[in-house]
Amino acid sequence: MTVSISPLKLSVFRGEADRGEMVAYSVPVREGMVVLDAVLWAQANLAPDLAVRWNCKAAKCGSCAAEVNGFPRLLCKSPVDDYAGEISVRPMAAFPLIRDLVTDVSWNYEVNKRIPEFTPPEADQHDPEPWRMQQVDVDRVIEFRKCIECFLCQDVCHVLRNHGRTDAYFGPRFMVRMASLEMHPKDGLDRRPLLKGDAGVGFCNITKCCQEVCPEHIHITDNAIIPLKERTADAYFDPIRALTRRLGRRSAG
Ligand code: SF4
Ligand code: SF4
Ligand code: FES
Repeated sequence: MTVSISPLKLSVFRGEADRGEMVAYSVPVREGMVVLDAVLWAQANLAPDLAVRWNCKAAKCGSCAAEVNGFPRLLCKSPVDDYAGEISVRPMAAFPLIRDLVTDVSWNYEVNKRIPEFTPPEADQHDPEPWRMQQVDVDRVIEFRKCIECFLCQDVCHVLRNHGRTDAYFGPRFMVRMASLEMHPKDGLDRRPLLKGDAGVGFCNITKCCQEVCPEHIHITDNAIIPLKERTADAYFDPIRALTRRLGRRSAG
């Protein structure tokens, strides 16, 4: 007896920012299929002009980020078996739409440029000996290096997505990057003024939505944002430090 699997009902957003609609495609299902396979089948067989961005199909390049049934996901890491009934695929809502499933994420690269790079103290820069790090310090920062820059966390963050405050908050991906630098034992810069100011760490209200969607399972809120908030609070709201800063300013003036 042959078992026939009904075709998948795939609904994909088609269009540009000011006009668009969901278009339904019927896609044959095969074993191990992920949502990206279904979208690419539709592109190859039914809609050759369907725009979708992807590269690795291995959940490592971050380019296939979109929203599947309303949740931010990597299309190549979303098995169709995980969804019952119709699957709808839409572009990330937090970024300007270029066309179909492709968004303009270039704002993120501009933000990245505003974060001072890894800078060891002067003495370490000229130290001919290999640097040594304690394992505990390696363990603290290594998870941050797993980021694949899919920007799904940026997409789900309500500060950026619902309130559009790209002017005020760098977003969770860049809290992760700043944490990786601030917690690096060989970095000599103090990025807390940037965190409190332009990076806007205070805008995060620790909802943890970013952490829930991260395909690399980075503990964005617990291990990056909360410690950064604590460091910033220590520097700016600790009364003894505040007094020392005030006295320092007075004697300099
Ligand atoms: S925890 Fe903070 S950064 Fe993450 S989604 Fe919520 S507000 Fe945004
Ligand atoms: S922190 Fe996670 S969700 Fe955010 S960009 Fe990196 S990999 Fe993607
Ligand atoms: S295609 Fe590279 S992460 Fe999906």
